[in-house]
Amino acid sequence: MTKQELVDLIQDMSLEEKVNQMLQVVSSFYSEETVITGPMKESGFTKENIAMAGSAIGALGAEKIKKMQSDFIKQQPHHIPLLFMLDVINGFRTVFPIPLGQGATFEPELSCRLAEVAAKEAAVSGVHVTFAPMVDLVRDARWGRVMEATGEDPYLNCCFSKAMVKGFQGEDIKEPYRVAACVKHFAGYGAPTGGRDYNTVELSEHTIREFYLPSYKAGIDAGAAMVMTSFNTIDGIPATGNKWLMKKILREEMGFEGVLISDWAAIEEMIYHGYCSDRKEAAIEAAEAGVDIDMMSGIYSEHLIHLVREQIIDEKLVDEMVYRILELKNKLGLFENPYKDADEQKEKELILCKEHRELAREAARKSFVLLKNDGVLPLKKEQKTAYIGPYVDNRNLLGAWSFIGQPEDVTTLKEAAIKWHEANNTVYCQGCAVLGNDIKLEGFTEQTEEEISKELEQKMLQEAIQAAAKSELVVMALGEHRLQSGEATSNANIQIPKVQMELFEKVCEVNENVVVILFSGRPLDIREISHKAKAVLEVWMPGTEGANAIMDVLSGEYNPSGKLPMSFPYCVGQVPVYYNEYSTGRPYVEGKNKDRFRSKYLDIPNNPLYPFGYGLSYTRFSVSLVKLSKDTMKPKEKIEASVMVKNEGAVFGTETVQLYIKDVAASVVRPLKELKNFKKISLNPGQSEEVCFTITEEDLQFLTQKGKWESEAGKFVVYIGTDSTTENSSSFILND
Ligand code: IFM
Repeated sequence: MTKQELVDLIQDMSLEEKVNQMLQVVSSFYSEETVITGPMKESGFTKENIAMAGSAIGALGAEKIKKMQSDFIKQQPHHIPLLFMLDVINGFRTVFPIPLGQGATFEPELSCRLAEVAAKEAAVSGVHVTFAPMVDLVRDARWGRVMEATGEDPYLNCCFSKAMVKGFQGEDIKEPYRVAACVKHFAGYGAPTGGRDYNTVELSEHTIREFYLPSYKAGIDAGAAMVMTSFNTIDGIPATGNKWLMKKILREEMGFEGVLISDWAAIEEMIYHGYCSDRKEAAIEAAEAGVDIDMMSGIYSEHLIHLVREQIIDEKLVDEMVYRILELKNKLGLFENPYKDADEQKEKELILCKEHRELAREAARKSFVLLKNDGVLPLKKEQKTAYIGPYVDNRNLLGAWSFIGQPEDVTTLKEAAIKWHEANNTVYCQGCAVLGNDIKLEGFTEQTEEEISKELEQKMLQEAIQAAAKSELVVMALGEHRLQSGEATSNANIQIPKVQMELFEKVCEVNENVVVILFSGRPLDIREISHKAKAVLEVWMPGTEGANAIMDVLSGEYNPSGKLPMSFPYCVGQVPVYYNEYSTGRPYVEGKNKDRFRSKYLDIPNNPLYPFGYGLSYTRFSVSLVKLSKDTMKPKEKIEASVMVKNEGAVFGTETVQLYIKDVAASVVRPLKELKNFKKISLNPGQSEEVCFTITEEDLQFLTQKGKWESEAGKFVVYIGTDSTTENSSSFILND
């Protein structure tokens, strides 16, 4: 349709029809099954409204969606098709590592390919829009949704935000196998106070602008068709009704022209925030902020018609919102083909095909971070090895947001290990359940785990101890329950369940060669594990091919290369902890300052256990001193910063060379260091390569005291190394 045809269509629509374009309902209103991702609501959903709704959430399956769509179009007054939306987060049926794991690859191009494959599987299943990527900056591991983010660094997040949007949408969402992307949650949702989900966010304008907003902007600049509001308040005003945020920042400053959707029932939640006195007021606030689609509160359908008739809301505003929704349908080509790519035959061919599985395996092994290795890895085939732990024979490796993936698609670690070891020198035991009785996962609809009797618990433990005692090495597969991270899964204690810690301790008592494979959706407090185990491999929630990928790494077939996208705290009392913090006026330098009046803890170190950017390899890389092409620079000029990187070990490996910059003194204080670029290089034993970065004035810009993105003259320190603690540096002066 042309622009004019869309405008004409809107003119021909009744007010009821227009207002209901803005209504999004769960697809169970049209068909039996649906994926439910928020609290179910009753009000506002009359039969008439549902029959004219603009979009449905939670449906999948080509046959089902085609039927829903054709039934719907027949009775919609202008035969306007529904938009089908779904959370396609880290894959569809082929499940990839959780986004935090993808962050650890430091390879946005890979995430672009993953999003492309996820889009393909989703599109042939009838989905038009995915609620991804989530690009919230995260610094607090207590928040369960850190698993859906790519970490604590603005620059890295921008790279992934851009790449994922491109992967989902391609150049044109009308093309086959593309879905529209939705950048979420606008804005600042990743900073809830105390790490408690949906809690108040307190961010200064400077902080939100400089550190939190850039990743949303990157996704928008990459062409994201949609943006989702966040549940939190910004400066005391819920994001969903926040005109400063939505009109000034999102529309005016960022130039976003696409569809703004509320999060699930977020319009209604403005009442519970204490910002709106009733549903009518909530409708006014959200509409005036420019929220186009009301996800599952029914408030627009209930109130906007009267509000227009009472001349409280201008019908022009409604027309603008409807225009954006119809424009999205038009961009997806739904007016010509309301089913887009939905195709039962293609579903059979593409979903979980060999190529997608191979990509899942590649992504998983690249996402693993080797945190410690005292020489026990890679494994030796001839070594008598016990695999112990609740993740040894477990198919739940998909993560909380992967409800489309099926455990039966997943290979277990035991199955993958049996394939590699061949010989009969391995033993496998569960040891304990994932969760003990100390943790209750309340409110989950799916069954979390079977009850285990005390006797069985003892038997499993004894079996594990005996197996450990008789083996030369133990691989322990431990970690969080898959439902311990994700939405509404905040934790005040970020350790693996107690029952597993007890198992770990008992095993360590009888065998000193313990390798821990750690499954988690967040950084955990792993002090004890890290102290006692000989090796620790963080594997996140690795997805469909996770277990095969783990064996690729354990066996040495693949040399681990992942780097932490989020710091692993020393303990929970340290969070939020992140590398790009400010210096403070009384900085503490570990081991150097003994004075009392310093910014420090009395009982723990300031530094995290494992910092941002950290990750080991089976080989060792040396990095030469930083060489700068000159020591002064004018704004329009560039500086080349280079190092020689050498593989000093005996095996082929990949290193992520990271460039950080520090602005020494400025009109507002600057972080200790900021990631500005990175390069992944692969080297054979003994091989060296020069890694060169170009520093431009743009890399030196920040939000100055004048409220502008600009650079300020002065001294800059350039660090190049293999993690964020590097001190390998050189400096230059930026002249006016
Ligand atoms: O996309 C999600 C969002 O991240 C949290 N609330 C529900 C939405 C739709 O499922």
